[in-house]
Amino acid sequence: MTQLIPILTIDGPSGSGKGSISKRVSEQLGWHYLDSGSLYRALGIAAIKHKVDIDNEGALVELISRINLEFKRTDQGDWGVLLNGEEVRSLLATEEVGQLASKIAVFEKVREGLLAKQRAFHIMPGLVADGRDMGSVVFPNAAHKVYLTASADERGKRRYKQLIEKGINANLSDVIQDIEQRDERDKNRATSPLVVPKDAVYIDSSHKTIDEVVQQVLSLLKNK
Ligand code: DC
Repeated sequence: MTQLIPILTIDGPSGSGKGSISKRVSEQLGWHYLDSGSLYRALGIAAIKHKVDIDNEGALVELISRINLEFKRTDQGDWGVLLNGEEVRSLLATEEVGQLASKIAVFEKVREGLLAKQRAFHIMPGLVADGRDMGSVVFPNAAHKVYLTASADERGKRRYKQLIEKGINANLSDVIQDIEQRDERDKNRATSPLVVPKDAVYIDSSHKTIDEVVQQVLSLLKNK
């Protein structure tokens, strides 16, 4: 039955614009939205809160059953993230939490433990799933797959602008360095590394606006 529910996967490195684009595309289509990175980020935050060692794979897996993550559209038309009922969007958005998420994401059992939580988002009328392994591992049978990227400099500038807009203190060269470090870890880990999924349409957004990419993605769906 679930094979009849459409999925669009959008994978790519940090700062590629996949978050903004996935949200906009899901709104246009009226489909659900999964920001899988938030799950890894939320688990990282929960580990700190419960004093779980982030190198202890077994303890992290045990913690998964104790986290509940929901995405809620706010009155301002934006997305809020609730971790066990508590709003954590700004807490999850920092580069430190991104690094933490990338570190715990190397563990095979942690990734396996998060599979069911991610697949639970696959419900009618459809799903836009954003992450690193959406098209390759979590939803390998998705009918629509996109790999979105941009140069590390461009991604660093975007991430820096987002952080400043959110009132988070940042330094551009540190942000670019963090992005390169995270790319390195996400692409070279043994389990579910960031790859261009088979059959994915490759889009380089370095010289494109968000609107242009959103239109390009929507037209891919129309033409298939
Ligand atoms: O998309 P993001 O920046 O919120 O992701 C944070 C980290 O979580 C990322 O550096 C690696 C990990 N991640 C992952 O391994 N697999 C995913 N599908 C999503 C995120």
